[in-house]
Amino acid sequence: MMEIKFIERKDLKEKPDMSTVKFGSQFTDYMLTASYDEANGWHDWRIEPYGPIQIAPTAVVLHYAQTVFEGLKAYSVDGEAVLFRPDQNFARLNRSLERMSMAKIDEVEALTALKELLKIEKDWIPTGEGQSLYIRPFVFGDDHTLGVHPSDTYKFMILLSPVGGLFSAGTMGTTKIYVEDKFVRAVRGGVGEAKTGGNYAASMKAQEVAEGLGYDQVLWLDGVEQKYLEEVGAMNIFFVKDGELYTPELNGSILPGVTRMSIIEFAKDAGYKVHEARIPLTDLEAGLKDGSVTEVFGAGTAAVVAPVGELNIHGNKYVVGDGNVGPVAQEIYTTLTGIQNGKVEDKFNWIVKV
Ligand code: COI
Repeated sequence: MMEIKFIERKDLKEKPDMSTVKFGSQFTDYMLTASYDEANGWHDWRIEPYGPIQIAPTAVVLHYAQTVFEGLKAYSVDGEAVLFRPDQNFARLNRSLERMSMAKIDEVEALTALKELLKIEKDWIPTGEGQSLYIRPFVFGDDHTLGVHPSDTYKFMILLSPVGGLFSAGTMGTTKIYVEDKFVRAVRGGVGEAKTGGNYAASMKAQEVAEGLGYDQVLWLDGVEQKYLEEVGAMNIFFVKDGELYTPELNGSILPGVTRMSIIEFAKDAGYKVHEARIPLTDLEAGLKDGSVTEVFGAGTAAVVAPVGELNIHGNKYVVGDGNVGPVAQEIYTTLTGIQNGKVEDKFNWIVKV
């Protein structure tokens, strides 16, 4: 197993006021870094004080966006740190790295490094309702060249950020969604299913327009016909129709969410019929019109479960259900967060002790 060098800092930071903290704005005392080159593989593992890094102005990531990231969370159970399905995140990291022609990581080494970092930083895990320590692993191409080809050198880093909710202070509220019919997020054969920065860069214009119109998130349609549901903002989408659960099937352009996968497994076990299918927007709209669609919600690591109160489809506004958090979203949220916080039995073996 690799050796991790620990570089201690003299001054520890003040912990933030978690009642007002904005998602992803605060970071812990330390971060993890490792370097890759062909001769040495992944090497020079360090846990060092959180702070700016040196990067050449020609680094491949800055010009051609050769970068991938992950998002997972640590929770505090009886004062000890636990993780939710970290093996799934590191497996997905490697699938993204493969798609972006980048050096893969050793999933066991990456998890070991994360655990070492968390052992040092476990006091940073907030314990209030809906709070956790968000973990951001990422890899970027570090070659110093303007040539357009895969980098030979990479950096792997892990940052830790104490968070509440993505949209609110941690408890579930409802969001307003705008169905995007001009811009697309990803196309067939592209990089939509890779967790790479470019997908998020490509989403910002539509997000900005939607926010200008008073919406929180956009609902993306397929990049070819703009007829089928894909995902919502930085989350996967689910809806409840006649008591059954629907979500778009993975098709190469949708991000395969760990929360999405967990909800499907939980819901099937709880007796729900779950449909993973190619879903026309017109089906969702018809269900909103006739009242058979009673709930719509986004699901992701950062957002957990984000119920949708209102949808704007091509200028037609629909209130979902009674506009409030629905019972299925509530049940899923309570179960998932309960498992994560040690309050609900982990019958699926999703929790990993640090
Ligand atoms: C996550 O849920 O971890 C995400 O990646 C969303 C993030 C871009 C805010």
